[in-house]
Amino acid sequence: MEYTKLGYSELTVSRICMGCMGFGDAIQGQHAWTLDEEHSREIIRHGLENGINFFDTAIAYQSGTSEQYVGRALRDFARRDETVVATKFLPRTQEEIDSGITGQQHIERMLNKSLQNLGMDYVDLYIYHMWDWQTPIEDILDGLNRMVQAGKTRYIGISNCFAWQLAKANALAEKEGWAKFISVQGHYNLIFREEEREMVPYCNEEGIALTPYSALASGRLSRKPGETSERLQKDAYARFKYDATAEQDGVIIGRVAEIAEKRGVTMTEVSLAWLLTKVTAPVVGATKFHHVDGAVKATELELTGEEIAYLEAPYVPHALAGVMAQNKPASAKEKHVWSTGNQKI
Ligand SMILES: NC(=O)c1ccc[n+]([C@@H]2O[C@H](COP(=O)([O-])OP(=O)(O)OC[C@H]3O[C@@H](n4cnc5c(N)ncnc54)[C@H](OP(=O)(O)O)[C@@H]3O)[C@@H](O)[C@H]2O)c1
Repeated sequence: MEYTKLGYSELTVSRICMGCMGFGDAIQGQHAWTLDEEHSREIIRHGLENGINFFDTAIAYQSGTSEQYVGRALRDFARRDETVVATKFLPRTQEEIDSGITGQQHIERMLNKSLQNLGMDYVDLYIYHMWDWQTPIEDILDGLNRMVQAGKTRYIGISNCFAWQLAKANALAEKEGWAKFISVQGHYNLIFREEEREMVPYCNEEGIALTPYSALASGRLSRKPGETSERLQKDAYARFKYDATAEQDGVIIGRVAEIAEKRGVTMTEVSLAWLLTKVTAPVVGATKFHHVDGAVKATELELTGEEIAYLEAPYVPHALAGVMAQNKPASAKEKHVWSTGNQKI
């Protein structure tokens, strides 16, 4: 396994981050295909044995049960100071807004709950899961900075945002002397490359780590078009993200298969080796031992410039999908929160 620094932070992470959205109580959340605790622990242990030290979970994953499984497994199989644990918080609920809970209070409540779920007294990276259009960014950043000051998180990261949102947030944090976002978890893989337009060059310029999610397009970049799996059938959310472009994406997936055959490796290795040329550490979802093995092997595969160009050539721009398609004010009339406060920068 290769290791690297997470952006300009002090954190040393494996080049593969284990995505933990597939762990948790299947009846308590968005996904019906998640692993129970016993099987989740086996996958986490296998990841650790193969050098993975970077784990990504969220309070949203199966109502906090992913955090619980991950926390207990890491406590039993690893040293806390040798692992890098990231979790994420959600926007304020309407109920919280109605009862006057501020952004700062919301963040503290969410992080306290996540720490309780994880059985830890700090996380390494606390991630703003998706842009909260109903809470001023000033409150979010102030709240996060307080958590860094309190030692409850070492660093902060962001997910599902536009480059302009990150640039503006970090400029505000710098002006106020608050903690800045050191990493971005965006939706980025060979068949969804919209991050390349603004985010990738911006992060490279600033030394911000790129830790993309759905690195394998939720399994589509690991198997030939037409082949299926239990998850591909059950994961309605991923189908919603990828089905509309399946035909054009199939051309790229076909090229992944061609190169894999030529090089005598798996499609997973080719897809991830491509992404590893662009980012710090992809977040890879694993629910089977061979998922972990394939991701680890990908760090050893070097693609040629010609192969990279061949994989990239058929891409055509995609409409935003999933969480990013909803990253906008609830109505055109709604004012942007930045225009209401004194935090113009
Ligand atoms: N920030 C966010 O909003 C956000 C959103 C989504 C995900 N995430 C994070 O990103 C992680 C990954 O997301 P994801 O699961 O959607 O994406 P993914 O990593 O693109 O897909 C994982 C799927 O790829 C297949 N796979 C993985 N390794 C393989 C291998 N070696 N050989 C063959 N197939 C392999 C498996 O599919 P089969 O099960 O079909 O075999 C697996 O379920 C999550 O666990 C979570 O931590 C974050």
